[in-house]
Amino acid sequence: MAGLKVTTEAASQEWNPKLRSLDILILVGAIAFPWLAIAQTPDLHSSLPHLEKIGRVTQLIVDGKPFLIPGGELHNSSSSSVEFMKPVWPQLAAMHLNTVVLPVAWETIEPEEGKFDFRCVDGLLAGARENHLRLVVLWFGAWKNAYSSYVPAWVKTNTERFPRVQTSDGRDTERLSPFSTTVRDADAQAFSVLMRHLREADGDRHTVLMVQVENEVGVIPESRDFSAVAGASFTAAVPLPLMNFLGEHRAKLNPEFRAAWEAAGARTSGTWQEVFGKTPLTDDLFMAWHFATYIEYIVKAGKAEYPLPMYANAALVRPNYEPGQYNSGGPLPHSMDIWHAGAPSLDLLSPDIYFNDFAQWAGSYTRPDNPLFIPEAQSGAANALYTFGRLSAIGFSAFGIDDQWNVPLDLVGITHPADRVDGSALSHMYIDLSRLAPTILEKQETGGLTAALVEGDAQRAARASIGDYTATITRDGSASDASARIGVMFIQTGPNEFLVIGCGDAQVVFSTDRPGPPIVGIESIDEEFFQNGTWALGRRLNGDESSQGQALKLYDTDLAQGRIYRVRLYRYR
Ligand code: DGJ
Repeated sequence: MAGLKVTTEAASQEWNPKLRSLDILILVGAIAFPWLAIAQTPDLHSSLPHLEKIGRVTQLIVDGKPFLIPGGELHNSSSSSVEFMKPVWPQLAAMHLNTVVLPVAWETIEPEEGKFDFRCVDGLLAGARENHLRLVVLWFGAWKNAYSSYVPAWVKTNTERFPRVQTSDGRDTERLSPFSTTVRDADAQAFSVLMRHLREADGDRHTVLMVQVENEVGVIPESRDFSAVAGASFTAAVPLPLMNFLGEHRAKLNPEFRAAWEAAGARTSGTWQEVFGKTPLTDDLFMAWHFATYIEYIVKAGKAEYPLPMYANAALVRPNYEPGQYNSGGPLPHSMDIWHAGAPSLDLLSPDIYFNDFAQWAGSYTRPDNPLFIPEAQSGAANALYTFGRLSAIGFSAFGIDDQWNVPLDLVGITHPADRVDGSALSHMYIDLSRLAPTILEKQETGGLTAALVEGDAQRAARASIGDYTATITRDGSASDASARIGVMFIQTGPNEFLVIGCGDAQVVFSTDRPGPPIVGIESIDEEFFQNGTWALGRRLNGDESSQGQALKLYDTDLAQGRIYRVRLYRYR
């Protein structure tokens, strides 16, 4: 990295009186021999934010403890201006999210080749810290939503040196080529300098928890790159590491992907079309391998400087869309295995969920080899409940979190009021989640936690099993909005006792299929409110408020009023 010029405000940070002499020694060592210090100091390394399998799940560990992210992602351009963010930070904190997901663009940190400017990054770190918020950094490197709009001008304008993905009729697109080692090396260089800076500026603070590498990569409107170099690769043999991976993981492959491979004869060698068939899906799988291996290179370069957890995110597929109509090559459920084979240094793959069938999409990214973090979602308190309760997620983040207050909507790209984040419901949900986080994290590890989601006009009911019981959640027929999402989380606090957190107008009835008395009765329902640091009893609801003890009634006002329920069940013949 000799010869790089770095502009930074980290050097002027205030002296932290809490630094102990051991910390100082470690820091001095880290500054002198950065990579050596991280690699060889197990304490320092394990004290970084990292993912760890605990009990039944993989959790994010921050400062030695499991950490849940009720978060929000900023609009794309907000974090390019420290000034713009100044009034936004306190609003985000007031919304009770604990983590802000925000872009850092290549063009911001390396406006001139080899000259780095971290004033914006340092301003973002300072803004987050002043407001007691953590960050997930999105590296807008070579690609942002299948385009290369955030690369520096010296990259964007030099198409000879930094080649583009090409169309089948030989035209360049607004998209850097994942087949170019020049592109890759320049991207990796910038990213590694960013990660080094984050280690230097934040290695002892852990403001930044995770890093997303690139954003919604893929190719549109055609299904693959048709440049000469891509074409040569497409007609060459499928790389051996991928073939070996498929052979070793055959039983666990995504069913759609496995079916495509087996339909083409489950060959263990051959060109892409020989191995996976002459279909558009093969173009997608081919691009997936090349995006994955490109990103693996970037991730390795970044982690060599500062090994935070890293992930890649996907734009999802509308029903019946073909590769190229969606971002062909992104980390989609059907290509997850290719991504795992090509980018083993990524800690997870994430969905950006803007569709109504949230449960299905979120579920397809929840695998033993892929813990769930949702960096972007249509706001939805119900979705958040489901994500943490049913899928034991690390985090949930609503997109466009900064468009609620004094920010002019057109500035953040909002043209229709309906696109705005429903901040108040989410904010109330995040209050509940932050109060219940230690219990939720413990139950994620040991069991005794679930949730259900009723979504879409067609769905009237959903079920969740917990302990010996099944809860059936039904939309309240009298509710004004028959399409509103209903989310309900159940936390088991005893063999027959549960805390219930709801979002929406609904009712819950309980049943059992376990040996013993077959009928489930409600012994009691108590409302509880958080007061003076603990949950305090309110009314007992065993009359009209629970249909004479037949059902737990939930209201869409529960969240705003801070009400949760403690339900005790019993069984009889
Ligand atoms: C998904 C992208 O990942 C975001 O950066 C943003 O463009 C949103 N779409 C807008 O809805």
